[in-house]
Order: sequence, then structure tokens, then C-alpha cells
Amino acid sequence: MTVQQIQLDAYLGLAFDRIPVAMIVVNPEGQITRLNQLAETTFGYQSEELIGKKVETLIPERYRHAHPSFRHGFLSAPSARPMGAGRDLSGRRKDGSEFPVEIGINPVETGEGPMILSVILDLSERKQSEQRIQSALQQKDLLLREVHHRVKNNLQVIHSLLDLQALKIRDHELVGMLRDSQNRIRSMSLIHQTLYQSHDFAQVDFDQFLTALLPRLMESYESTAGHVAIHIRAKEVKLPINEAIPCGLIVNELVSNALKHGFQQQQRGSIWVDIRQDSSDTVELSISNDGAPIPEGLDLQQSGTLGLQLVHLLTQQLHAELQVQRTLPTRFTLRFQIGMPT
Ligand SMILES: Nc1ncnc2c1ncn2[C@@H]1O[C@H](COP(=O)(O)OP(=O)(O)OP(=O)(O)O)[C@@H](O)[C@H]1O
Ligand SMILES: [Mg+2]
Repeated sequence: MTVQQIQLDAYLGLAFDRIPVAMIVVNPEGQITRLNQLAETTFGYQSEELIGKKVETLIPERYRHAHPSFRHGFLSAPSARPMGAGRDLSGRRKDGSEFPVEIGINPVETGEGPMILSVILDLSERKQSEQRIQSALQQKDLLLREVHHRVKNNLQVIHSLLDLQALKIRDHELVGMLRDSQNRIRSMSLIHQTLYQSHDFAQVDFDQFLTALLPRLMESYESTAGHVAIHIRAKEVKLPINEAIPCGLIVNELVSNALKHGFQQQQRGSIWVDIRQDSSDTVELSISNDGAPIPEGLDLQQSGTLGLQLVHLLTQQLHAELQVQRTLPTRFTLRFQIGMPT
């Protein structure tokens, strides 16, 4: 051996000892021939206690019997690879406690013949912080669910207060105005209900929302009940709360209008609510009805009535474009992009 080789060996020996991962060298019989400082501290042994011992000493008892056959399998086709791919591996300390590990095994040729070099990562801390993050996430989920639940309850209280107030009012027009306000409140409350009932608090399942909203809206315009059918098409549409609230209010206004103004004379007919979302997150919402047309000469931009003013305001908030077809069928179409600042 040359002087340089001796220096290199000494240098590699030092690196083996100091490297901040646990390393153990095992011979083909499964005896430990060498381990570094971190392997000692990780398993809680002194080097002398382990040299010459079977590597199975460092494995929980219940896995020991299977280990020699894994070693023979590795020796018959040696190549660097992670040990026990796909399985959760555990190490066993001197005091009997167990801890999660990840192990890489490598064949090495040494002066003393072929050996297996195992590189061992103690995953205890990583697993603990994963658990901490998991439980923090669960708590955040619980809190969000609770917030949506409370917002929904508070909106329901306002709804009931307006009910009580309506009982004291004789004027039909005023009662109608209160009912319209109640419907607006309910549409917001249903968005929160849909959110706290879903698994994903960031996304409103619009199909679920419409299925809850529209029958109730029909009930509140009972004069049309029985002869107007509502058809919902909203497969796979999921909207973030920022878009879901204005969009829900727009549906509320436009379907109310269809019920109120499209079918005043007890005509039979249909209302269609379609919402589609494409792969680039563009949403197209359309509300159509085959009842009476929008009165000729009525300027929808300048109607001065609350409903359409609200629709225009919310359309702006969504950075949406609104198209109106006045008859056959009457159709309001709204197109917007998810994720625009509101
Ligand atoms: N789907 C529709 N079919 C026929 N006419 C409609 C339709 N939508 C709106 N209109 C007409 O447009 C007008 C304005 O609608 P808008 O929603 O602003 O007011 P409103 O429904 O009368 O009252 P509110 O402010 O309570 O909504 C209505 O009064 C009605 O004449
Ligand atoms: Mg209206």
C-alpha cells in the first residue's frame, strides 16, 4: 500500500465516522463488522457491543426471522436499493424502543471481501412533524367547518326575523319585498351549508347548492308551483367561495325573475339552469325560461329595480360578461374566469 492510499483510507475512515447519517457494514453472514458514530447514538449502543453481533439485533423481534432470507435475496442479486420498498421499516434501540427508519443498502467490495453497507435514516422527527402538521390541518378544518356552520345559522336567524316581521305587514308589495330579501339571504346561507357539508372547504359543489336552492325558491313563488319545471345541469362544477357567493346570488335573482315575470299568467313551462366549467376554469352560467318575453322597450341596463342592479353589480365583481336574449327562450348568459381578484 502506498503512502497516498494509506492517507486516503484514513480520510475515508474519518468521513465514515463523522458523516451525519447512520451507517452499518454487515458481512454476508449478517454480522456487523463496522458502524459509525451516528449509528451508535441512533441505536443506543457502543461500537464494541455490536461488532460481531447479528444485524438482526437492531430489528424488532417480530421481523427478525424473515430478515436472513431478505439478506440472501440481496446477496444473490446485489445492487444499491432502498430496503423493504413500500413497507414501513422500524429499528430497535438497545432499550427495546422502536423507531421508524428508511434504509438504503449497497454492496461494497472491501479488503475483507464483499459486504453490505446500510445507510439508515431515523424518521422519528419527520414522522412527528408530519403528525403535528396533520393534526394542525384537522383543527383548521374543524374550525372552518364551525365558521361556515355559524355563518349559516346566523343568516338563518335573520331569515326568521324577517318572517316574524312579515307576519305584521298587511301590504302585499311589502311582504313580497321581504320575501325577496329572505331568498337572497337564504342563497348565501346555502352556500355556507354546502361548504360545511363538503370535504373541501375551499370549493362549493354547485350542483349540490342548486339542488338545495331551487326547490325552495319555487316554493316561495307558490303561484307558479306545479306548472313550471326546473332543470339543473351543473355536473362537476366546483367554485371557490369568492365566486360561489356572487354566482349564487345571481342565480337567485335570475331564477326569481323567471318565476315572477316569465310565468305570471299561470302558463306551463320550464326553467333551465346550466353551469359549465372548462379545463381552463372558464365558467359559463345560463338561466333560461320559455315563458313570457322580457317586455319590449324595457332597458335592462336602466331598469332602476333592485334585482337587475344587483345582477349588474355582481357581474362586475366577477369580471364577467353578461349576454341577454329577450325571448324564445329568455336567456341570461354569464361568462367569467375563476380566480380573478374580486
Ligand atoms: N325572465 C324574465 N322574463 C320576463 N321579464 C323579465 C325577466 N327578468 C326580468 N324581467 C323584467 O325586468 C324587470 C326588472 O327585473 P328586476 O329583477 O330588476 O326587478 P323585479 O324582479 O321587478 O324586482 P326585484 O328588484 O325585486 O328583483 C322586471 O320587472 C321584468 O319586467
Ligand atoms: Mg327580480
